Amino acid sequence: MNKHSRSPLIQTLAGLVMLLAGSATAFAGPSIKADGMGLSKSSVFSVPEPAVSHYPTTQPGESKLLPRAYQGAPPQVPHSVSEFEPITTQMNMCAACHGQPALWGQKLEKGMPTPIPPSHYTDLRNAPGKVTENLIGARYNCNQCHVPQTDAPALVKNSFGRK
Ligand code: HEC
Ligand code: HEC
Repeated sequence: MNKHSRSPLIQTLAGLVMLLAGSATAFAGPSIKADGMGLSKSSVFSVPEPAVSHYPTTQPGESKLLPRAYQGAPPQVPHSVSEFEPITTQMNMCAACHGQPALWGQKLEKGMPTPIPPSHYTDLRNAPGKVTENLIGARYNCNQCHVPQTDAPALVKNSFGRK
């Protein structure tokens, strides 16, 4: 090896050494306190008991509809769902109550279930625009999209939904 081919290697090594020295100084910055690392107000070393939050216990027919989060959002479930789950291939209590195409366009009295809308009877992928008699498979598992709400407060304050 001659002098000329070695010098770039030495230069690179020297650069690396300087880089490492630089990052060592960066690591020696001010330390973060154990209770200032995350959203939790407690130390990262403590194991806090999470507060218990509650799902609605009102039965269908007795609940107040919840506001829609935005246009086109799946409405949230305002009533208890504990007796209607799990949804299986044999049994879908949600569809049993809500699957009422005869109610489309009708004025609903208090206590009547909102009918599953025509969009859920439309195969959007293969035949968009054609409302069929049967619920489309992609809409069978209701709580994939429709969920009840607990009374848990937001972890981080936000202004979503407010003007
Ligand atoms: C016994 C009948 C019944 C069953 C079973 C039932 N619901 Fe309901 N649901 C209702 C009624 C009635 C309402 C209207 C609110 C009320 O009166 O409590 C409602 C309201 C809703 C709403 C709100 C609709 C809107 O316009 O905002 C959603 C979403 C919903 N239910 C989803 C479900 C899902 C998902 C399941 C299954 C886990 C289910 N429901 C099971 C009767 C039922
Ligand atoms: C893939 C997501 C998805 C699934 C699964 C689904 N929905 Fe929906 N649902 C929506 C969306 C989005 C809307 C609002 C837009 C619309 O009406 O299509 C909606 C609207 C509704 C409404 C309100 C209709 C109205 O007139 O305001 C009811 C009731 C409902 N769904 C019931 C059900 C039930 C019961 C099931 C299960 C059998 C179900 N949905 C499955 C996404 C879904």
